[in-house]
Amino acid sequence: MQAGEIIEWVAARLGLAASMIPDGGVIVGAAGTEVHGILVTWMATAEVLSKAAGLGCNLVVCHEGFRFEEIPQSPIYRWTAPPAEQPYERPDHPNSVRRRLAEQNNLVVVQIHYGLDRLCIYDDFMPQLGITQVIAGGGYEKVYVLPAPQTADALARHVAGKIGLDCVRLTGDGRKMIARVGNLVGGAALSSNRYWMRKQIEYGAEAIICGESDECAEIFAQEYNGTVLIETSHAASENIGLRRFVRMLKDAYPDLPCEFYDIRRPYHFVCAADFKTQKPP
Ligand SMILES: [Fe+2]
Repeated sequence: MQAGEIIEWVAARLGLAASMIPDGGVIVGAAGTEVHGILVTWMATAEVLSKAAGLGCNLVVCHEGFRFEEIPQSPIYRWTAPPAEQPYERPDHPNSVRRRLAEQNNLVVVQIHYGLDRLCIYDDFMPQLGITQVIAGGGYEKVYVLPAPQTADALARHVAGKIGLDCVRLTGDGRKMIARVGNLVGGAALSSNRYWMRKQIEYGAEAIICGESDECAEIFAQEYNGTVLIETSHAASENIGLRRFVRMLKDAYPDLPCEFYDIRRPYHFVCAADFKTQKPP
């Protein structure tokens, strides 16, 4: 198998041409490189790249972007006269470290974002929670009915347990009875993706179970029909589908080593009130 073929493999399972998968591609290395082993992960961090090299996996498949991009800030926001900066990344910038690690270890890095959303990530999230019956919407707009109505607090505890998180964030009234829930796995509940949240509320979602959100989106949900938001973790919510992707690859390429690297939620909570510090996940 050549590295670039994995994009075609995913596209074929979606009934699409590889050129129709809109984001990602071969980010580092050559598409024609012969693959000795695959490491699948949510994000190709420096730690992941070192692990891949140690395992002898020369193809790293990631879901999220490889480079941290930033928007140039215009002088009006700089307050002081900006120095004559050139676009550059210091040697210790994560982008530089990642690229160096990949190149020094002859790794090929392939990002498949939308393709993996469609193949496994989006539709694997709710079944992990025991929620399977879609009652409205399609694509990223699905709304499901719960097996039985329950309070938002009870639903949040159930979700945390099923994903293996010690806590989740809940926005809204925890006593509200919930029968219909939306699915905004990954980053789909961020304000930048408001369209999907609005559609799910309009399809009747009383609560939305999501990966990662932000405070503006949480307030939007609350103000729109008092919709409850249960936030888990961007990485943890998408790892469910990525694990299945690894199983699919193992079935398709039984002679090719294929590993999964589990990126965890990167933060933990520290509560000022009782000075108890939760252990990092
Ligand atoms: Fe994501």
